[in-house]
Amino acid sequence: MKKIIVANWKMNPTAVKEAEKISRDIVKYSPKLKNAEIVICPPFIYLDRLSKQNIKLGGQDVFWEGRGAFTGEISPAMLKDIGAKYVIIGHSERRQKLDETGEMINKKIKAALKSGLKVIFCVGEKERDEAGEYLKFIKNEIQEGLAGVSKKDSKNLIIAYEPIWAISSNKGSRPDTPEEFLQTAIYIRRILFFKFGSKTAHNTPILYGGSVDASNAGDFVNIGNAQGLLVGRASLNAQTFADILKNI
Ligand code: PGA
Repeated sequence: MKKIIVANWKMNPTAVKEAEKISRDIVKYSPKLKNAEIVICPPFIYLDRLSKQNIKLGGQDVFWEGRGAFTGEISPAMLKDIGAKYVIIGHSERRQKLDETGEMINKKIKAALKSGLKVIFCVGEKERDEAGEYLKFIKNEIQEGLAGVSKKDSKNLIIAYEPIWAISSNKGSRPDTPEEFLQTAIYIRRILFFKFGSKTAHNTPILYGGSVDASNAGDFVNIGNAQGLLVGRASLNAQTFADILKNI
């Protein structure tokens, strides 16, 4: 299966020309990777322009309703219409800074899956504890987010395990280790197994995110067995992003 390497640009860059350049350079510098699918998730307003380039696109969020009086929101159908195939849902920055709740995330996931978008569902704890309470936290996030999702719709599900303490913009951040990621991913598969059965548990890609760069990307994929990576800061520099791709 192809590795899914997702560039989460967050609220960057500040001009469309720059966005076009980074995206063009990513395509230019990246080797023709047969084993990786590159997905750029830019701010919504750049999607149209980037859709003219030969690259897969995703939204950074989506709303659960299809249309109507929801000022400022974007529906799954709109994302698809502009050419996006993926959408990130439940990113910790939205949970923490915009008070997005598990219930809202659940509605978004259900609507996006119904529309046929591939959902990159972000989960991850705020801190690690020796007693393993953080595992319960992850389990709860997954169960809340996937409540009422059918086995059939789960085929377009991707989980991004992204511990909040590992995200580069957080103070004192450091990446998780590939060995620990491997353990957590097994735990996540168990949760998927009890909810959807063995096929979904086996087939759902589990990505790692949090301070990924060219020096650790290869280990997360090869030692940690990550089916892909969710890359924030390092995806805004085309050369660095291409180096990540070369190392997986
Ligand atoms: P980072 O961000 O790679 O800069 O740590 C990842 C993310 O928040 O998705």
